Amino acid sequence: MNNKIIIVNGPNLNLLGEREQSQYGSTTFNELKENCLKKSSEIGIELEFTQSNIEGELVNLIQDARKKYDGMIINAAAFTHTSVAIRDSLDLFKKPIIELHISNIYKREEFRHKSLISDIATGGIFGLGVEGYILAIISIQKILTNENR
Ligand code: DQA
Repeated sequence: MNNKIIIVNGPNLNLLGEREQSQYGSTTFNELKENCLKKSSEIGIELEFTQSNIEGELVNLIQDARKKYDGMIINAAAFTHTSVAIRDSLDLFKKPIIELHISNIYKREEFRHKSLISDIATGGIFGLGVEGYILAIISIQKILTNENR
């Protein structure tokens, strides 16, 4: 049976391709979604690709994901740096979590240097552009099939 994973995207990522291209590149949100679905089907993953601008909706998504998915890739966007509620819901997930950022948050403003998620994530990818999503999909598949060592 295929592994099922969910990609959770936080606020403003729906505007990829339009917002701050110098940080996030020119790929649109829909193109990114298509690329992720394509890679997932190639390697035998069932993928749900989600986005919300609303903190409570993200908490609901993450809570529901506990019963439905084997792993999660999360770009919590600005909530990475502020949301104890999202951190707490991720802590309840108890399955592999990859934290993802398109930009290198450590090269940017100081308020982006702190992630409330990193210490409960399995691992993380940052600063590699939208290609990071593809790398995260490959990586989580290896973690789930125990091919990561
Ligand atoms: C981001 C980095 C965050 O600091 C920022 O608020 C985002 C996107 C990234 O993917 O690089 O919205 O998570």
